[in-house]
Amino acid sequence: MKALVYYGPKNVRVSEMPDPKIEQPTDVLVKITTTNICGSDLHMYDGRTNMEEGRILGHENLGEVIEVGKAVVQIKVGDMVCMPFNIGCGHCKNCESGLTGFCLTMNPGFAGAAYGFAGMGPYSGGQAEYLRVPYGDFNCLKLPEDAKEKENDYVMLSDIFPTGYHATQLAGVMPGDSVVIYGAGPVGLMAAHSANIKGAGKIMVVDDHPDRLKLAEELGTIPIDFSKAPAVDQVLEHTNGLGADRGCECVGYQCCDKHGHEQPNITMNELVKAVKATGSIGVVGVFISQDPKSKDPLEQKGHMDFDFGNFWMKGMRMATGQANVKAYNRQLCDLISQDKAKPSRIISHELSLEDAPDGYKHFDERDRGWTKVILKPGKSTDRSKKAAEQREAVAL
Ligand SMILES: NC(=O)c1ccc[n+]([C@@H]2O[C@H](COP(=O)([O-])OP(=O)(O)OC[C@H]3O[C@@H](n4cnc5c(N)ncnc54)[C@H](O)[C@@H]3O)[C@@H](O)[C@H]2O)c1
Ligand SMILES: [Zn+2]
Ligand SMILES: [Zn+2]
Repeated sequence: MKALVYYGPKNVRVSEMPDPKIEQPTDVLVKITTTNICGSDLHMYDGRTNMEEGRILGHENLGEVIEVGKAVVQIKVGDMVCMPFNIGCGHCKNCESGLTGFCLTMNPGFAGAAYGFAGMGPYSGGQAEYLRVPYGDFNCLKLPEDAKEKENDYVMLSDIFPTGYHATQLAGVMPGDSVVIYGAGPVGLMAAHSANIKGAGKIMVVDDHPDRLKLAEELGTIPIDFSKAPAVDQVLEHTNGLGADRGCECVGYQCCDKHGHEQPNITMNELVKAVKATGSIGVVGVFISQDPKSKDPLEQKGHMDFDFGNFWMKGMRMATGQANVKAYNRQLCDLISQDKAKPSRIISHELSLEDAPDGYKHFDERDRGWTKVILKPGKSTDRSKKAAEQREAVAL
């Protein structure tokens, strides 16, 4: 099969790889019809993780079931399914409590497993024609009748929609709350969408990319451009000098100052300032336990210069971590089905698998207009069709 393979920093290519097979009677095989590129893929693409070369990337996957193992009882061939990016066993202490992002058995020695992800187990990703899904009954969400019609919405259930929602849950967003969200990437925009769904009052989204801030505004939030004036000042202005009730961190350790220089503690320390005393912060942006390629000696050890004194003096709370996608995907699926949520509105590019390397390059450079890239294995984009026609013409 064709798959997008990681060959080293900024080097991904579509290669011929062995087809996945049923390995355990609980496995399901899925023909991938939509799979996304995520901000989390970029940490690997940038060479900022210990991702092994030769592995297939892709953890935001949706497709059609083509084979099921003997022990699979619920999921059937022909079902359209969306898989949470985390792989859970369903029977460990954490999975039983709904904490499937921290499964204790799928990646022994570490709490948490995922497809095509550094440090999250040996599982291949789904930026490919086919994907093996372990414990298929547990990990496949069977989609409703309108699965094909709303495929570009449902695919967001694999990660960014539940992750955005998780940010608001970790922050404890309640109806009427004012919320400041750092990051207007796909995750921040989904946090904004989720805060809206939860009935938050004022929602402010901080970034310095005009195109992404425009999307935030279209989602009914107040865009805060930190390149124009310090974000904290702008948030305080919007909240009578008190700060927002809740804060969401949706950027992670590769956050930058207004000159584009990475400084891993910016968003966390700004959130301490921009959120009110006794407020709470949900952190879904990724921070890692070591980052040897960082220029910051603290960050190299996975540490940061965090303003803990002010955080404590203000009596604040914070919660962090990977989203437990399965805790939310069924309810969020129903919202999509009932037209109460439309996560596909942030999609900027729909490409074929062949065009994925190009998609990575543009998304990584945060080129204007490249907000969320989805890939359609098995389909060719107009551009790749055109290129193929040109190649044919040359050959003739
Ligand atoms: N916890 C989880 O389960 C989970 C799941 C998916 C993604 N993530 C993580 O969430 C983060 C965001 O993902 P994404 O796909 O939206 O990525 P992204 O890289 O597309 O978006 C990040 C955005 O943050 C902005 N930004 C940079 N510095 C900033 C600053 N100082 N202040 C405000 N904004 C700033 C960038 O301009 C960009 O628009 C990443 O770290 C990703 O790995 C976590
Ligand atoms: Zn993702
Ligand atoms: Zn488990």
